Amino acid sequence: MTAQRVLELNEVHAGYLPGVNILNGCSIHADQGELIGIIGPNGAGKSTLLKAVFGQVNVREGEVKLHGDNITGLGADKLVEKGVGMVPQNNNVFPSLSIEDNLRMGAFQKPSLFNERFEFVADLFPELAKRRKQRAGGLSGGERQMVAMGRALMMDPAVLLLDEPSAGLSPVRQDEAFLRVAEINKQGVTIVMVEQNARRCLQISHRAYVLDQGKDAYTGSGRSMLNDPKVIELYLGTLATDVEEKAHNEEQPAAAAPEAAPEVAPAEPTLPEPKRASDAHGTPSPEDKPDSSS
Ligand SMILES: Nc1ncnc2c1ncn2[C@@H]1O[C@H](COP(=O)(O)OP(=O)(O)OP(=O)(O)O)[C@@H](O)[C@H]1O
Ligand SMILES: [Mg+2]
Repeated sequence: MTAQRVLELNEVHAGYLPGVNILNGCSIHADQGELIGIIGPNGAGKSTLLKAVFGQVNVREGEVKLHGDNITGLGADKLVEKGVGMVPQNNNVFPSLSIEDNLRMGAFQKPSLFNERFEFVADLFPELAKRRKQRAGGLSGGERQMVAMGRALMMDPAVLLLDEPSAGLSPVRQDEAFLRVAEINKQGVTIVMVEQNARRCLQISHRAYVLDQGKDAYTGSGRSMLNDPKVIELYLGTLATDVEEKAHNEEQPAAAAPEAAPEVAPAEPTLPEPKRASDAHGTPSPEDKPDSSS
């Protein structure tokens, strides 16, 4: 039996400014139940790829398909209705609302789904359910990330798009975030995850793509890419010796990255936490302005 294609980008060219494309013929796909990782250097267009799916950047050529239907250029509300769930990297919770109301916002198009979907999210994130009346603004970065994922899961999405779920978290919290993502996927949710932490991303991804200059440069299974000398040399190597990380490694030589690891295992040495300027990529725009400072 062939796997059901959930999401497909065919030769997508997209950009923000007239005449300047950031995606230059990018093709990726995700089949039912897959966890797809997208890695690549800063500025490669990873966030833009998710925005191209979520109607937040002009797709000038090529197409985006969901279950075979052309969804190129549809607005966020239509996309959510059709089954695309998006968790932007920043500004992804409503700080003045409670955890429960954040989740309610996720189901606002179909309030009748709330109870059933709340149960699903509560099973994944029991700590959120216990604290459902607490304001999201008072939560830690990792907890906010859970609320944001929970909110996107409220509409029972066909595909969940995650932009750097581990960004800004401490190494231990990063491991936890990856385990949560893997758990959501085990529940049957197809996921496309952009990640800066390439090794961790490849460890949990069924398949992955390296995005370079707006094109899918390499693809393969997560494991094969972890061990592919070309990927290591050109991409994992580059990412692992990112200037700031290099400086950090010189201070703490014991924190060097592992050669390759088969599973996410918190006991392993962990890559230093990326310290990057936060970017305010695509987000829902409620009247109460979300905020992700923590
Ligand atoms: N709103 C925007 N307007 C104009 N240019 C933009 C906009 N957002 C991103 N870009 C440009 O698009 C390019 C790709 O950005 P993008 O955010 O997709 O990269 P990325 O791979 O996600 O990088 P990072 O790893 O730093 O998150 C960059 O050169 C960036 O400056
Ligand atoms: Mg990005």
